[in-house]
Amino acid sequence: MITKIGIIGGGNIGGVIVQEIARRRLSRSIGLVDVKPPDVARGKCLDIAEGIPIINADITIEGSKSYEVIRDAQIVINTAGVPRTVRADGSIPTREELLAINLQITDMVADNILNYCPKAIVISVANPLDAIVFRLFQRLNIPKNRLIGMAGVLDSARYRYFVAEAAGVSVESVNAMVLGGHGDTMVPVRSCCQIAGIPVEEFLPADVLDRIEERVRNAGAEVVGLMGTGSAFVSPAWSAIEMIETIVFDKKKILPCCVLLESEYGVNGYFVGVPVVLGANGVERIIEIRLTDTEKQAFDRSVETVKKTAEDVKCVR
Ligand code: NAI
Ligand code: 2OP
Repeated sequence: MITKIGIIGGGNIGGVIVQEIARRRLSRSIGLVDVKPPDVARGKCLDIAEGIPIINADITIEGSKSYEVIRDAQIVINTAGVPRTVRADGSIPTREELLAINLQITDMVADNILNYCPKAIVISVANPLDAIVFRLFQRLNIPKNRLIGMAGVLDSARYRYFVAEAAGVSVESVNAMVLGGHGDTMVPVRSCCQIAGIPVEEFLPADVLDRIEERVRNAGAEVVGLMGTGSAFVSPAWSAIEMIETIVFDKKKILPCCVLLESEYGVNGYFVGVPVVLGANGVERIIEIRLTDTEKQAFDRSVETVKKTAEDVKCVR
């Protein structure tokens, strides 16, 4: 049983994660840290704590500017980072353009995880996703089963949603997976997309699927463009919750997660989105699936982008 979950970053995503952990009773206690004054984390937690009698959840919820609040957490979720937002000229930065600022934040996050909860399973959400997870690995130097990036669950949910909408079926009937980096080169894997176990091509023509997959690759920017400030936060928070729940209940669900590859998929030493078995120990197994030649080429291209950003990370001391 998980007794404590820590959340780093109490902004949009962190706030929804705290609510959902409480609502689903995933842990006896929750610690949220955010450096934002006057004391955003404390305020958010007080708001949620005052509501828990209504949902009958006996949970301790504590927020603070001090990282002390995540002490001894068994799972920690890192959402600390600047999100994408529309610029004054109307353009939208890429996730990679967040790298410099978010690396500084990540170094502080890593130091504090080492200090307060070095044995935790770490799920990181901040962007650019793959590069931030890579940086955390450099700084934390923890076993690879305990460091996981969240992106594939979100990107795959978007793929499932668009397919279900186009085919006029329940989202529950759609299985889909998006692999590779969490950027414009991500790979919606059509050969894995099924509706009630039937290949998606039997429901939707190729040109419709092409458009859906393009929309999946741009889905993050689509929301940023519509909202004006900040990026998607409810669906990313629910995606992180899906991973937390799988770990808390040792479900062994197969989910696409950003994990360290050591020869799987022909990649060595980089964090890339692939299907894994998630359970009480974090990443319990990496699943190598057979991709079509076109998908493999797209995956390799995506890995090249991930490697390039990781090389940029290595240059920043
Ligand atoms: P937000 O701006 O609402 O929240 C981020 C919070 O982090 C802020 O409250 C800020 O004060 C806090 N923070 C900054 N430095 C900190 C530090 N050193 N220690 C503790 N807290 C610190 O942003 P939002 O929307 O919650 O997004 C968070 C991150 O997640 C962004 O980098 C965003 O791009 C990324 N994201 C990732 C997705 C994914 O699929 N992996 C999807 C959507 C967003
Ligand atoms: C998203 O995919 C911006 O990474 C964020 O919504």
